[in-house]
This record gives sequence, structure tokens and C-alpha cells, in this order.
Amino acid sequence: MSLGVRFGLFLAALSCVYLVSGVDRNNFKTCEQSSFCRRCRKVEPGKTPYKLLNTVEVRETDLSGELFNQDTGVAYILRLTGLADNTYRVWINEKNPLHPRFEATFALQSDPVPKKIKLIEQTAEYIVVGTDHTKAKLFFNPFRIDFYRGEQLVLSANARGLMRFEHIRTKPEPKPEGEEGEKPAETNPEFPGDGADSDPGAWEENFKSHHDSKPYGPEAVALDFSFIGAENVYGVPEHAGSFALKSTKKSDPYRLYNLDVFEYEIDDFMSLYGAIPVVFGHGKESGTSGVYWQNAAETWVDITSSADNNVVESIVNFVSGSAKKPQVDAHFISESGLIDAFFMLGPSPLDAFRQYTRLTGSAPLPQMFSLGYHQCRWNYNDQDDVRQVAENFDKYDLPMDVMWLDIEYTDGKKYFTWDTRKFSQPLEMVHNLTEKGRKLVVIIDPHIKRDQNYFLHNDATNLGYYVKHRDGKDYEGWCWPGATSYIDMFDPKVRQYYIEQYNLDKFTGTTNDVYIWNDMNEPSVFNGPEVTMPKDLIHYENWEHRDIHNINGMMFTSATHEALFRRSGGSLRPFVLTRSFFAGSQRYGAMWTGDNTGEWNHLRISYPMCLSLAVSGFSFCGADIGGFFKNPDNELFIRWNQAAAWLPFMRQHSHIETKRREPWVFGDNTLGIVRETLKRRYAYLPLWYTLFREHEISGIPVIRPIWAHYPTESAAFTIDDEILVGDSLLVRPVLEPGLTEVSVYFPGEGKITWYNIDTMQPYKQPGAVSVPVTMERIPVYQRSGSIVPKKNRSRRSTVAMKNDPYTLMVIADDDGSATGTLYIDDESSFEYRHGKYLYIRFTLTGYKLTSNFMDKLATYDTKSWLERIDIANPPKNIKSAQLTSKTLGIVELEAKYNTRNNVLTVRKPGVNMGEEWSIELIH
Ligand code: NOJ
Repeated sequence: MSLGVRFGLFLAALSCVYLVSGVDRNNFKTCEQSSFCRRCRKVEPGKTPYKLLNTVEVRETDLSGELFNQDTGVAYILRLTGLADNTYRVWINEKNPLHPRFEATFALQSDPVPKKIKLIEQTAEYIVVGTDHTKAKLFFNPFRIDFYRGEQLVLSANARGLMRFEHIRTKPEPKPEGEEGEKPAETNPEFPGDGADSDPGAWEENFKSHHDSKPYGPEAVALDFSFIGAENVYGVPEHAGSFALKSTKKSDPYRLYNLDVFEYEIDDFMSLYGAIPVVFGHGKESGTSGVYWQNAAETWVDITSSADNNVVESIVNFVSGSAKKPQVDAHFISESGLIDAFFMLGPSPLDAFRQYTRLTGSAPLPQMFSLGYHQCRWNYNDQDDVRQVAENFDKYDLPMDVMWLDIEYTDGKKYFTWDTRKFSQPLEMVHNLTEKGRKLVVIIDPHIKRDQNYFLHNDATNLGYYVKHRDGKDYEGWCWPGATSYIDMFDPKVRQYYIEQYNLDKFTGTTNDVYIWNDMNEPSVFNGPEVTMPKDLIHYENWEHRDIHNINGMMFTSATHEALFRRSGGSLRPFVLTRSFFAGSQRYGAMWTGDNTGEWNHLRISYPMCLSLAVSGFSFCGADIGGFFKNPDNELFIRWNQAAAWLPFMRQHSHIETKRREPWVFGDNTLGIVRETLKRRYAYLPLWYTLFREHEISGIPVIRPIWAHYPTESAAFTIDDEILVGDSLLVRPVLEPGLTEVSVYFPGEGKITWYNIDTMQPYKQPGAVSVPVTMERIPVYQRSGSIVPKKNRSRRSTVAMKNDPYTLMVIADDDGSATGTLYIDDESSFEYRHGKYLYIRFTLTGYKLTSNFMDKLATYDTKSWLERIDIANPPKNIKSAQLTSKTLGIVELEAKYNTRNNVLTVRKPGVNMGEEWSIELIH
């Protein structure tokens, strides 16, 4: 192909990816256009051909048996394993597959911890195994599994009979000449077959101009799960839709296939950049349970609910037998791989979330800087631009921790290189930032420019590191640099090679203060089918791209994470931002919601998107502030900053064609409001940091839906515009223009009072209340009975705040009690894993506030001290306070009421946070 033709092609590809306005649905398949989805969705409920032979064996932690498909005569192995923490795993594979099926176990943080199960009952119809608290009842024919928590049926697999496991078969031979069509290839002619062969898309499939050779033919797997008693289900990110999943009865199923969807639209079931195949069902009576479907192939998930018209009958008949019980069903359909499903039986929402992160891991504690504010755009033009922008943050008194560089910093989109004209002194640029306590993040994409002057391309070509066609030739696609190939991160040798590229002597111009952004790792291929890689390409050990697609992005971030860890000699916690992700990606960094648009509805969707991610194990989520495409006006920009300040990852970013949008370009008024917003973000960093540490330990999300803590308040089950930060703050962003009031749902059924954090005005009335809003702030409330640690001094970055003193915001409940926690360490290294930290519990009971270490053996030499205590709803008639600590002895303190907001302030206790203390309120 001549260069001219190539360039023409590239432009054509670009125009289809980056110039059309609005999402081009024609670029992406519907279920009907995808043969495996079409076949599996057609399965009629109620008559599964699968039966479990009653020759099952129960051993210490598992049960194994043989499944038989009465339509095809194919046999399968089933293994049900008891796991720690109310969890079961069900694994099903063909007994004699013609070739191996991919298992997505990269997603697991380690081998799940088995738990002993015992045989509870066996009859001719079923067998029951389980533990003291939970049990699994396996019906032989028709095959189905019911999971019980105590005596309560909470989850059921194959209750609707939608299971389908297409065995791998040999390709039908064309019929001899003269006869039409192909010879059938069913495994056993005595059986009617599963009908897959007669699907025209079974052995090859075309989509637009793309051909999928499908050499292994049909190999889909599907299974339905019924959440008994659930009113709603949540999860299966990433979709730009509501948090509570909608019924797909009249739409396509939710799709999980990591794709670069240009100008994605909201309230949609279409795939986006990442996929986490986990779903949680929750109901007032039933509590919470979840299913994690461990499969990395393209997956579709149908949701049907007893609330759907007409579905009631069909579902209840199969499972609960009672038309009164609510129920939601999720039907998972994957193109290849096998059935490996985990059942998490709760009972509480936090139990179920934890059970999932026990499998796929929690996020390791990030460095403090990464919880600060990030400033990005495509692109900061050159090193002077970076310097000036950073200086302006100081000039305008705006805290900021990280400057970012998008693809234009490279030499012609050759990653690990610099455009030496624009960035002639990258080390000096980095130094300018770090001397102010700031960091730099640079982008590294997974596509490699096919340029003979590029070492990476030459190495990858010579060493055979690229993903290949079936005939062994390197695959070539199109992305930012033009012609590109894609290194195969599934090959351990490639991974090692890639990790080494980050070494400081190789990636020159960077230091350990430079962190990494992995973009386009779905992978995005501008001229590929659905803007990604063809499914019949070949990866390490002969796996087809089809089998591993959804885990591809995670392979990059896990390697980048390891690279950063290694290049700092294991001393610094890596920071990696990824666009594509899978179950388990939370172990390697943060994610953001990709190329959103500067419109109100995109601001609105950022909350349910991040909530959905958070319950699915991935708390470290944010959305481009102001929207990637288009230019926000002042009001949208303000509201977006205010909302983003309460999501875990806070970054402004925008498209290369957008106007500059650093906070000062919007004029003084907006600048002032954004300044206060950023300062508020920084003031609450001690809380965020503590929550991230608690997430690391416990696996429970950093931000949470209201029902996580108020599981019986049905009115909160479908709330999309409010979140809890930890369990103490309730955040209600303003998501529409021109509002002077918003409706806030106050949970707690009147037993809790919520205090506006700015005015300390208490809200005791439960349920939806209309509250006034101004442009200056969004409503945020602190729960009565909680203590929140803050740092109130205004600084340019988190590094500058490190030794700053703390303020405790205490809100006494009606009994005069409150509790809260604070976690402190060096904010950057792994020393905390060697006991160098403080984990403090603060407790107010009546007239006494105490600080106690929760881990008595841990120590950390902090310079931070206690500057101030504010107590809302304080005890009456307090005259002064008295501090007692080991080093300071007894110290008399001033205590003063603010009559305006009924807050008692104890000033300057002065005690170092590294010691335990108590303060008596003297009355
Ligand atoms: C796509 C990413 O989503 C976007 O954030 C980035 O600016 C562009 N790629 C260019 O790198």
C-alpha cells in the first residue's frame, strides 16, 4: 500500500471515529447482529435440556458431577465449590472439549479461599450441600441450582432454563456436488442438536466490511440468574445509564465489550470502554446477593424484572412460586470461554460488595497526591505551557497536584519518546512541578507506530511480540500514529519487555514523580470492526482475541503498575489511570469514564456511572470535568467542579479542539467558586484517604449508594443523584441549570439528623425534602453520630499539606455520641505495610472525646497535631475543656459556642496525632 493510500485510509478512519457528531450506532453491533447473542437470546424459558446426573460426588470443599445436554448428547463437568464468606463458585466445562476454553482467572487476586461444605440432603430429585449458614440445592432434571441464606432462597441459577453451553464442534463439510447446503455437524446424530449450525453466523460472520473467520464455530455460554426478593439489580459497568439497571425486555441487553465509542450517549445499554461482569440484586426483604460471571469474551446481559408486565407469571412460576415476591433476573450470554460463576450471598449490601472484592481484590491505598486535583487537556502544548499553567494555579490560589500530558508530547505518537522541539527539557519541566510538590502524568497508549525508526516497533517485529493474524503475520491497524501494531501483553516475555521500557534509563525525561495514563487499551483500532481488534487474531498460546478481549486493557494496566513499582525500587505506590478495565482492574489504578460531552446530562450520568463502578469493586472513578467534547458554559463548569469534588478521582480534561478551560478563563466569579470548591476537596482529603485505606482493608466501596447503609429504604433504591462518601457524608450535586432548590433524600427514617456542612443547619425530616441551593455550593451533609477529620489550611498541593494540623468535625447524635476514624501514614510509600501508620478511632460519649489507636502495634512519626474540634449538637453549658495526654499532661482549653449554628469549638488542643488523648468537656 502506498503512503498516500495509507494516509487516505487513515483520514477515512479518523473521520468515522472522530469527526462525526453523536454516536454512530451503525458502527456497533446489536444483539441481533451478533450470532451468538441472537442464538442465546432465542432460548425459550422453561425447558432446559440440561440434566445433572445423580452420580455427584461431595468432597471436602466441593461437589462435582456431570451435566448432560439432552438435545446434543454432550457431557459437561460441573464443580461447585464452597468459598469463604458466604460465597460459592460454579464452574462448568465440556467433558471432552475439542480445544481448551479460556478462563479469565487473571481477574482473581489469588485463589479463592475454599470453605468446607457438607452433604445436607439427597433425594432422587435433588442434592443439598452447604455450610451452617448457607446452602446450595442442585436439582438433577431439569438442572438448576438454588442458593439459600439460612432458609431463605436468595439466588437461583438456570431457574428460567436459559442455560446454553455450545460445545466446540468440527466444521460441517460442504455437501458433495449437486447437493445443496452443508452436511450437519452435530456431535451425535441421535440427538436433535442445539440448532447452532443452522445459524448463518455460526462459522463465519460479517459486520460492515469486516469478516470474522470464526475457525472454532459456535462456542457461546449462557446462564440465567434469579435474584429472589430483589426489587432492583445493579452493576455490570460500564454503561452510561442509571445505577439501578433497567429491564431489557424491550431493548437490547446490556453489552459488555470494551469499545471506544465516539461521542457516547447517555441512558444507554451500549458497551463502553470497560467491562465488569458482576451484578448485585437488592430488596428490602431479601437483602443483597450477587453473581460474578468470570468471562472475558464479549458478553450481553438481559435484565427482566417481576415489575415488567407479563413477566411476573413466567418468572414466579419457575422459582419462588409466589406472585407477590419481587424478583429480577439477569441472563448472561458470552461468546466463548466457559461458565465460571461466583455466587455471593450477602446478606447486607456491604457484605456482598466485600464478598466480590475478596475474589477480585480491593484497590491498594493510592498516594495522597492522586486524590488531589488533576489538570489535563489534550494537549498542553509545550513545556512552557505546562510551567505557565502550573504557575497560574499558584497565582490564582488554586490547589492542584498533577499536571498531565496527552499524546502530543511524544515524537510522532511513538510512546516512550518526547517531541524534543516542544519538550526539549522534560526533566527541568518535571523539576519545576516537583519543587512545588506536584507530579506529572504522561500518556502511554498500547498501539505501536509501524515506523522503522522506532526502536519499539523494530524490537516487537524482530522478537515476534505483536498480536498476529492466523497465518502468523503481524496484525496491522490504524490509530493515532497511522499504521500501528499491537504488542501482545498476554505473553510474559512481552510483559517483561514492556515493563522494562519504563525504567528511568530507558524512558528518559521521566523520574519517579512521573506517573502513567494508559488510554486506548480496549484496544481502540480506528479501522477495526467496531473500532477494535478483529476477534480472530491470535494472542499468546493461541488464544483468539475473541476469548480475551475484555481483559486486554487490564493486562496493560497491571504491567504498567508493576513497571512503576519496579522503577521506584518498590518504594512508591504506583499511579496508573486506565480507560479500559475488567473485573480486578481496581488493583492497578484509577479509571475515568472516557470521552463524555460538556452537557448537563453527561454531568448527571457521572454519578450513577461511578456508583456502579464502586459497587463493582472499582471505587477510584471520575469523569472529565466540563466534558471532553464541547465547551461548558460557566454554570455547567461550576456545577461540574462541585460534583466532581465528591467523586474519588478528580480531573479536568478536554478534547484538543475545545477552548482552554483552566478555572481562571471563566472570569473572577467562576474562578472564586471553583477555588472554594477545590479547597473544599482538599479540606476533606483526610477523610478520602482514610476511606481508601478502609477500602483496601475491607473491600467496601469508598462512595456508596444510600441503600448500602439504609437497606430497607425502598425509596432510595433508584436514586441516581445522591451518594454517600463513606458512611458519614451525603452529597447531592446540582445537575441541572438554573436551579434554586433541589430535592434531597435524607435517609435514616428520622433517627438520623443530617447537618449541612457549610451552615450546620440540621435536617431531621426523613425522605425527600426540597432544599435551597446557590451557585456557590452544592448541598453536602454530615450524619449525626459521625466524626470527620479535615485539614483546613489552604495549600498549593497535598505534599505541602502533609504536616498540617487536623480539625475534627464532630456531630453528636441525640444521645450525645459520635465516632469516626482517621488513617495517617507517609502518604506515598509502602512503609505502611510494615506497620508505619496510625489508625485512630475518635469517640464522643457524653462529655468525653477520646482518640485511640485501633492497631496498637502500628506507629508513625507524624508532625501533624490537633488544631481544632467543632462539635455540632453539643452538650449544653460547657464552660471549658480539658485535654489529657501522655506528653502534654493535663491542659486547659478554651471551649466556645457559636450561637448562630449551635457549634461548640474547642481550640488548639495542640496534641500530636501520634499519641492517644482524651478531652473532657467541662460543664
Ligand atoms: C482518547 C481519550 O479518551 C482522551 O481522553 C484523550 O484525550 C484522547 N484519546 C487523545 O489521547
